[in-house]
Amino acid sequence: MQFGWRSAIAGAMGTVIVCLVGLVPAAGQVAPDENPQLSDTVFKNVQILKGIPVDEFMDAMGMFSSALGYDCSNCHAEEIRVNRDAFAVTTPAIRRARGMIEMMNTLNRTYFGGQPRVSCFTCHRGSYRPEIVPNLALQYGDIMDDPNAMVIFPDRKASADPVFEKYLRALGGPERLAQLTSFVATGTYSGFNTGGGEVPVEIVARAPDQRIQIVHMPDGNGVKTYDGRNGWVAEPWRPVPLMPLTGGNLAGVRLEALMSFPAGIQKAFSQWQVSSTTIDDRPVQILQGTNAGQPPVNLYFDESGLLTRQVRWNKTAVGTVPTQTDYADYRDVGGVKIPFRTIVSWTDGQNTIALSEVRPNVPIDPARFVKPAPFRRPEPR
Ligand code: HEC
Ligand code: HEC
Repeated sequence: MQFGWRSAIAGAMGTVIVCLVGLVPAAGQVAPDENPQLSDTVFKNVQILKGIPVDEFMDAMGMFSSALGYDCSNCHAEEIRVNRDAFAVTTPAIRRARGMIEMMNTLNRTYFGGQPRVSCFTCHRGSYRPEIVPNLALQYGDIMDDPNAMVIFPDRKASADPVFEKYLRALGGPERLAQLTSFVATGTYSGFNTGGGEVPVEIVARAPDQRIQIVHMPDGNGVKTYDGRNGWVAEPWRPVPLMPLTGGNLAGVRLEALMSFPAGIQKAFSQWQVSSTTIDDRPVQILQGTNAGQPPVNLYFDESGLLTRQVRWNKTAVGTVPTQTDYADYRDVGGVKIPFRTIVSWTDGQNTIALSEVRPNVPIDPARFVKPAPFRRPEPR
């Protein structure tokens, strides 16, 4: 694989924290009109990636960082650490990157019928300087199977049904699962946006598909909600105080809600394909779910039948970016196994949720899941 990839990402992540701090205006500043929230109306100096939702625009920044092994400040001006307006400053690297977007678009348009076959990652593969000379170690070394690949080699004879049956059985069986209709979970959240430190988190979920997550940050609550139709984030590390989720991000927050009550997951996708791979040298079965017109979702089941990983994708104007969720530490809650440890990794960050308590079947007002209030820092005293 790519040499130095891990160290580049680790380095990149350190600075992403710094990059995102202070993106939200302080209390008292006027929040931008949240609807529609398009890149060139919210940001000051967007010249190419115009007219796309803000969440997709930020995923494009994730693609840039991931593809080049860069952090935000490798392209943006150093002042972004103290002043969010500095993201709009055109640096030489920004000018270069704009040229690259146009080159990529020209390649796709001219040679691939407008299909997004070439992305920043196609050439860069985690380095700011794409390789020119072939790598003999790659040619003669062991073939590395990427378990997260979006294109799977399906076993046409296999059916998804027995995999789902084994999964639901491992979780406690369909009857017990049907009895779990809500829960309130508490624990800790840590990640790039907490500087690695642990802060309290609360997750409230209601069957079949409503979920709210509240991260108690020192400077206010970061809220992520899915109400069964729409999803929003009002979190201090986002570029706007209230960001509606669109496209693959909306599908992602929906999936997070659905996964809280896994009995419904099979029906949530119109088609499933079966394949297999290994994660950390251990065999896993892959179920890939698709709905027309959307990127697929990969679910990975270990030998015990439990879900160990989920990978989903989001299409952006500069290519498709992945989000990986790893599940571990399954514990019994009222006869149903729930993963107490969840690690989410995406192109510009990673976070861990470690639950300490899950209370099943707590009555929950459906109004809990409505659109959250925009994030506001407390008034300075
Ligand atoms: C490879 C270079 C590169 C990296 C790395 C990068 N960006 Fe950007 N960024 C750009 C370019 C290019 C634009 C302008 C896009 C355009 O003109 O359409 C931009 C624009 C922006 C803007 C809009 C600023 C304004 O007001 O106009 C924000 C906000 C932003 N980037 C945030 C980030 C964050 C946060 C990160 C780190 C996660 C990041 N960027 C990483 C190249 C980069
Ligand atoms: C067709 C291949 C290809 C694609 C696609 C591509 N790049 Fe590049 N990129 C290059 C090459 C080649 C260089 C020059 C590296 C060198 O100077 O040796 C480069 C250089 C760069 C540099 C300057 C790096 C530095 O500090 O010297 C930036 C920034 C950059 N690319 C960003 C992007 C972004 C963002 C995308 C996606 C929108 C992208 N590239 C897509 C091939 C590509």
